[in-house]
Amino acid sequence: MTLLVIGSTGTLGRQIVRKALNEGFQVKCLVRSFRKGAFLKEWGAELVYGDLSVVESIPLSLYGVTAIIDCSTSRANDLYNIALIELKAKYILIESALKAGIKRYIFFSIFNSFNYKNIPLVMLKLMIEYRLKISGLNYTIFHLPGFFQGLIPQYALPILDKQLIWITSESSLISYINTQDVAKMTIHSLSISQFNKKTLPLQGNKPWRSLDIINLCEQISGRRAQINTIPIYLLNSLKNFTRLFQWTWNISERLAFIEMLSHKYSTSAQMKEILYILKIDEKELEELDVYLQEYFKRIMKKLKELNYQILSNQKNVSKIEF
Ligand SMILES: NC(=O)c1ccc[n+]([C@@H]2O[C@H](COP(=O)([O-])OP(=O)(O)OC[C@H]3O[C@@H](n4cnc5c(N)ncnc54)[C@H](OP(=O)(O)O)[C@@H]3O)[C@@H](O)[C@H]2O)c1
Repeated sequence: MTLLVIGSTGTLGRQIVRKALNEGFQVKCLVRSFRKGAFLKEWGAELVYGDLSVVESIPLSLYGVTAIIDCSTSRANDLYNIALIELKAKYILIESALKAGIKRYIFFSIFNSFNYKNIPLVMLKLMIEYRLKISGLNYTIFHLPGFFQGLIPQYALPILDKQLIWITSESSLISYINTQDVAKMTIHSLSISQFNKKTLPLQGNKPWRSLDIINLCEQISGRRAQINTIPIYLLNSLKNFTRLFQWTWNISERLAFIEMLSHKYSTSAQMKEILYILKIDEKELEELDVYLQEYFKRIMKKLKELNYQILSNQKNVSKIEF
């Protein structure tokens, strides 16, 4: 089976490529920069040029492909480009997949997306979900919460860097997940017919509040966080004011995204069923505590090495001076 991974240089995409190669799949990666995708080639994937904003490049990239895993998402901060990439390009991708006789199509959307139709990016995701559902393709749509990897710039780095962390006053529970676990479940799902034509949530096995994550980071790193709390009513006004949705751009939008992921209802029973079908033990999913401990261990070691280098360089300089 040959997979085409779109968005393969991204946080999730690269884990999908890594897992697929480990499992013996032939992997093609659609990349818009061969230089940026060089590490994927080193891993053993084939690079094919493609840019979702140049829609003519899409059909050609499907040659010889059995399944598509679309991990791409736009980061542009104007609505025109988002609509072009998230909607037009993805419609063309779905049409081209039909013509090319693609056997499986995997798409990632956002946890609780159906409750947030008023947010432009979410609405575009929902439109693609609908197009897939009526396409006749064998699709699987996974609804994802936040990634462990996203917590590093959000909480861990600001603590290390003594930067302010913004949280909402009514922080709710989110079951963050490691992208490696999403990759594992996605690749396993390819061979399971029960996942055909399904929309399913994938989430980690423990829900977390922002403050608990910050406390955990403080405990592990031994450093104090500087926290600023934004009231929900203010967040909502800011959200209405800024209109456009993209969680990486600014604080209000990022916090709005967090609130969206954390809408209060449980999907854990469905998640248990998914794991059962995939024959994956719940305990195999990485715990956030373990992930953060590993992260801080590595970063603290690097910081110590760096300090040591700086100190020894200073000593050498002072030897030269005196
Ligand atoms: N991050 C989260 O917490 C989260 C939560 C819920 C759902 N999701 C969904 O999960 C999926 C993966 O998210 P992620 O955070 O891993 O994304 P990401 O790290 O931002 O990666 C985005 C990928 O899309 C590619 N891309 C962007 N514009 C492109 C274009 N015009 N043509 C071709 N490729 C293009 C990027 O390529 P370049 O390297 O060339 O820029 C990159 O490989 C997305 O569908 C996202 O909506 C993410």
